[in-house]
Amino acid sequence: MSIRTGNSEGKITGWGMALGPETITNDDLASRMDTSNEWILERTGISERRIGGTTAGLAVEAGQTALEMAGCNAKDIDLLILATTTPDDQIPATSGMVQHQLGLQCGAMDINAACSGFVYSLVTGFGFLKLGYKKILIIGSETLSRFTDWEDRSTAILFGDGAGAVVIEAQEGDGYLRGWDLNCEGSLRDILYAEVGGTIVMAGKEVFRKAVLAMTESAKSSMTAAGLSPSDISYVIPHQANIRIIESSMKRLGIAKDRAVSVLHKTGNNSSASIPIALFEALNDGRIKSGDILLLVGFGAGMTSASAVVQWGEANE
Ligand code: UT7
Repeated sequence: MSIRTGNSEGKITGWGMALGPETITNDDLASRMDTSNEWILERTGISERRIGGTTAGLAVEAGQTALEMAGCNAKDIDLLILATTTPDDQIPATSGMVQHQLGLQCGAMDINAACSGFVYSLVTGFGFLKLGYKKILIIGSETLSRFTDWEDRSTAILFGDGAGAVVIEAQEGDGYLRGWDLNCEGSLRDILYAEVGGTIVMAGKEVFRKAVLAMTESAKSSMTAAGLSPSDISYVIPHQANIRIIESSMKRLGIAKDRAVSVLHKTGNNSSASIPIALFEALNDGRIKSGDILLLVGFGAGMTSASAVVQWGEANE
């Protein structure tokens, strides 16, 4: 396990999101397989999910919105980091197509840390700001429906397609990334994987149990790195996998569950896109105010986990 301390200077100046064009409700799934709206809602908190599009296409839509909000010209972006575990092609990286379609003139790379990928990418982006880059576009984008076995009720009910994006910019003075933590327990590969050309295979109960432990541990490490305690956290932006995972983690962390931002009832699990989509929702409904402290925390195949404590300030607005 790695723990890092120390602020990184930078602010989030734009955000965007996109969801697959087709809505699949729980009843739609119940008409195709042995399940029910009641079971899915009670065991996961998901009502519907959106599918369709390509990983690059969704990323471009989310990225464009984030660039416009930040008032950024495409050619001013110094780096594109695309978190995805569902690339459009084996080779090359999907970020190249996104870079081209957005008209960026900069380096581009994919990061695959599954559902923790956006937080891995955000921390990586803040690192590049320290190396001298000024504006970085970070996107989490996934088309999990292409890797889902639509006959398997234990996984088909969970996943959806979508993308979320942020622009981060260098700034003088106090940093806005106050603490962070990245982990991987590679020995747990077999509880959640998809072979090349295959679909997602998951030991649901085992993933659930590990997810709660990993999210709690990572969140605690980030808070320690930031010199903060659970009572300092304004909002938790967790990976959107299962409402029971979110509630169990909040309970273990000692943070009231109404402080967790949740969108999974209408999105399902969008892997690396789920945290920036939830962040987008909370920013757009005006919940997040200047001075708030946000705890972003995720876990996923690998088995990875990651968290970041971000201070929201006037500079973000
Ligand atoms: O991004 C990370 C990716 N994955 C996750 O985070 C998923 C983590 N795991 C989970 O969210 C939960 O384990 C699931 C939602 C996948 C499953 O919920 P559960 O409460 O752990 O159910 P279970 O697998 O223990 O199954 C309980 C029962 C079983 O029937 P029996 O053996 O008790 O008769 C299953 O066959 O529920 C049955 N079941 C279903 N019934 C109706 C499993 N899936 C379904 C279904 N509809 N879709």
